Amino acid sequence: MEHSKSYDRHILITGGAGFIGSHVVRLFVNQYPNYQIVNLDNLTYAGNLENITDIETADNYTFEKGDITDLSFIQTLFQKYSFDSVIHLAAESHVDRSITEPLEFIKTNVLGTATLLQVAKETWKNDWNGKLFYHVSTDEVYGSLSLGKDMFTEETAYDPRSPYSASKASSDHFVRAYSHTYKMPIVLSNCSNNYGSYQFPEKLIPLFINNILHEKPLPVYGAGLNVRDWLWVEDHAKAIDVIFHKGRLGETYNIGGHNEWQNIALIRLLCRLMDEKLKRDNGSSEKLITYVKDRAGHDLRYAIDASKLEKELGWKPSLQFEEGLSKTIDWYLENTKWLENVTSGNYQKYYEAQYQNR
Ligand code: NAD
Ligand code: TYD
Repeated sequence: MEHSKSYDRHILITGGAGFIGSHVVRLFVNQYPNYQIVNLDNLTYAGNLENITDIETADNYTFEKGDITDLSFIQTLFQKYSFDSVIHLAAESHVDRSITEPLEFIKTNVLGTATLLQVAKETWKNDWNGKLFYHVSTDEVYGSLSLGKDMFTEETAYDPRSPYSASKASSDHFVRAYSHTYKMPIVLSNCSNNYGSYQFPEKLIPLFINNILHEKPLPVYGAGLNVRDWLWVEDHAKAIDVIFHKGRLGETYNIGGHNEWQNIALIRLLCRLMDEKLKRDNGSSEKLITYVKDRAGHDLRYAIDASKLEKELGWKPSLQFEEGLSKTIDWYLENTKWLENVTSGNYQKYYEAQYQNR
């Protein structure tokens, strides 16, 4: 890292070794050479530095390994880098894990967010000018919709129903509380389900791509009738860029793809595309579909109305779903080494090999 250079902004991005965070870090490092980007990540099972090898030697980029719940460590980081902004993505993010380990979610998502807020407040409180705390959140805080046409808007009342969404709802409330109580400049976005490259293969799309590749069963929860609204991760990263630069302070923006799919329909499309790409007999991947016990408290439907973001800031998704899904499958098929490292656990050795002796 070039210490002597003077940067226009000093930005802390948390969770930048994760799925969405890695795309956000890449976009900011490449797009804004005059911003200093510090990526803070604790490298939990979901954090993978192999997601961002392409930018790890950039002058304006630094990686810091650490825990967002560690108050004194966060204080030291704020002193070291004089951050003016935080883009906060670090979280425990998988609903199924939140059902078996809810306390981890409360610790990271609630206490971790509150710790970052508290240090930012103490550091910035005498001059809020030019400061920003941006919280990246989920549409799952709004609860579950019935099958139909209604959608979540920014005015929809919070109704979280899984330990994951309850912890994210709580962290959203803390961010707004710091704005109301201390006048902290904040912005929030609540996004629908993301898909794309570098997603940990425990989430539906990469898990099923990996299972089809290895001809393993595809575990469909319940009858597969739940509906999700899917957005290409790079479109999410672009939305975060736009909101970070142009979003009105104190506001919330919903981000979504206007792209609802019943799980079983999406899985059938995925199977068809995989058969074509792997040159397998038509219908062979569908034979792997296995209906399993439903997820406890499984939210039926999510759908996002992203018109505020579109009207105010001019953002809209760039990719049609079938094209995005096809590109995504191609990426996993071209990056089988990445997939193997993740599934074998080898990716966790990357930090020791590349960073520890620096
Ligand atoms: P992810 O699980 O892939 O990545 C989370 C990252 O946070 C990992 O790199 C992990 O190592 C890091 N982390 C976890 N605990 C930490 C801690 N205590 N200290 C420091 N780092 C820690 O998650 P993702 O899918 O990239 O989601 C990123 C954010 O976006 C989350 O806040 C999530 O709630 C939100 N979000 C995700 C989706 C989605 O579809 N994946 C949709 C909307 C919003
Ligand atoms: P997931 O990717 O875990 O995202 P979320 O629960 O945050 O929406 O799951 C997407 C949908 O796919 C959800 O309705 C649950 C379902 N699902 C399965 O049917 N089987 C699976 O193995 C997984 C991981 C998810």
